[in-house]
Amino acid sequence: MKIIRVKDEIEGGQEALALFKDQVKQGAHVFGLATGSTPNTTYQALCQSDLDFSEAISINLDEYVGLSHNDPQSYYSYMVEHLFKQKPFKHSYLPDGTNEDADEECQRYSRIIAQNPVDFQLLGIGRNGHIGFNEPGSPFDGTTRKIKLTESTLNANARFFANEADVPRYAYSMGIGEIMQAKTILLEAYGMNKADAIQKTIEGPVTPNVPASILQKHPNVYFILDEEAASKLSK
Ligand code: GLP
Repeated sequence: MKIIRVKDEIEGGQEALALFKDQVKQGAHVFGLATGSTPNTTYQALCQSDLDFSEAISINLDEYVGLSHNDPQSYYSYMVEHLFKQKPFKHSYLPDGTNEDADEECQRYSRIIAQNPVDFQLLGIGRNGHIGFNEPGSPFDGTTRKIKLTESTLNANARFFANEADVPRYAYSMGIGEIMQAKTILLEAYGMNKADAIQKTIEGPVTPNVPASILQKHPNVYFILDEEAASKLSK
């Protein structure tokens, strides 16, 4: 596990860009991508770089159930806005939030992940330690499935919607077992409201109560943390 401490998320974005460049140099071809506000500066840095993803594949972690790709609140729209518009990939995969047949959609997405093993996976983290939308209690060997979002996640995501009632209650998310298959993982966290989750993730016991704690078992994981997110670490 390598921890990169940065002053702020702008510097974090630059460090993440350096890791992306390194990955591309090593031949990485499939990129696991994340949404939320955390990766914003990373995507800005990628957009301003000379990196070319036109022959690469991206696979996103998750999507809200019920939102179509055209919905401005969908994670698909987020990705177009923050990255794909400027840096298109050869293929970009996200779960289809409009597929009402959850089993079919989850199996379809798991097949895509199995056929395109992720070289480099980008992650944010929820305040309760979730990764993707794998809420506390999610199985460590899980594959893509439909997940009921917790109150804490609904509250945290309400800021992106006009009314809290508009926040979708369910999401399709890559499972922790699939996330852990990535050859290299980068988790970024910024701000005080991530400090508890980061302390438990890095120094606490490996437990499904803190989904990201399983990263302690991954052979190749980087954390980019600002001072606040790292403030509760003992070392
Ligand atoms: C959502 C996403 C996660 C993200 C988390 C934190 O739950 N599914 O992938 O890590 O939010 O979001 P933020 O980066 O906005 O704090």
